[in-house]
Amino acid sequence: MSADLPETCGTARGVLPCVAAVGVSKIYRRRVDEVIALKRASLSLFPGQMCALLGPSGSGKSTLLHILGLLDAPTSGKVVYDGVDAPPPGGRAADTFRRTRIGFIFQSGNLVPVLNALENVEIPLLHSALSGAQRRERARFALARVGLSHRERHRPSGLSGGEQQRVAAARALVAEPAIVLADEPTASLDTAAAAGLLDCFATLQQGTRTAFLIATHDVRVTERVDRCCHVHDGVLDE
Ligand SMILES: Nc1ncnc2c1ncn2[C@@H]1O[C@H](COP(=O)(O)OP(=O)(O)OP(=O)(O)O)[C@@H](O)[C@H]1O
Ligand SMILES: [Mg+2]
Repeated sequence: MSADLPETCGTARGVLPCVAAVGVSKIYRRRVDEVIALKRASLSLFPGQMCALLGPSGSGKSTLLHILGLLDAPTSGKVVYDGVDAPPPGGRAADTFRRTRIGFIFQSGNLVPVLNALENVEIPLLHSALSGAQRRERARFALARVGLSHRERHRPSGLSGGEQQRVAAARALVAEPAIVLADEPTASLDTAAAAGLLDCFATLQQGTRTAFLIATHDVRVTERVDRCCHVHDGVLDE
């Protein structure tokens, strides 16, 4: 059990955060210079919480989400899940961990180009105990919830930017993960689609106590969250 969890931001005392960044710094070193993207950022997220991560372009939002999602390693500091240090990114343990506990919505969608929408959404279920038919049914349901039943057979190249973003969201939600890390998930969505996606988030938040950390510039998101954190030049504040 990690004794150094930050008691930040609306801490529910006595409840263990489902995920925490503890003094996380990230320096991107390049041949000619370096970028300090995060400076000792600490954040605790609790089950059932929906938190917006706000800040100007280049302030470090995606960097923090990637580190929390075990896609990238911090230069210093650590990530803690349910009180236990997370496995290092890049290894099999981190892959399994991410697959079973984390839904990640990438800023760029990151869909598999040779798979259609339904197959993309099914990916997180491939290692589950579900049968092929059950997986397909779950994926269909997730696609329907983001309003894309009519695009099941389309590959990403045959989808609009907003549709790709909704497929990416359905893929992140289909396994009902404990934590969803969402990088500007409504950036390409019109009012109705954004509201529909936020309704999906709220259903999971209330049903399975899924926690959400959402990097966003979108007031439609900030109006619906429980909590906002701000990042400026790599420094995180409530
Ligand atoms: N691989 C990298 N190599 C070097 N610098 C990087 C790398 N990735 C990000 N950066 C820099 O780190 C800083 C933080 O980037 P990040 O992508 O986290 O910003 P952001 O807050 O998500 O911005 P946006 O709102 O535009 O998506 C930026 O200055 C960016 O240029
Ligand atoms: Mg970003």
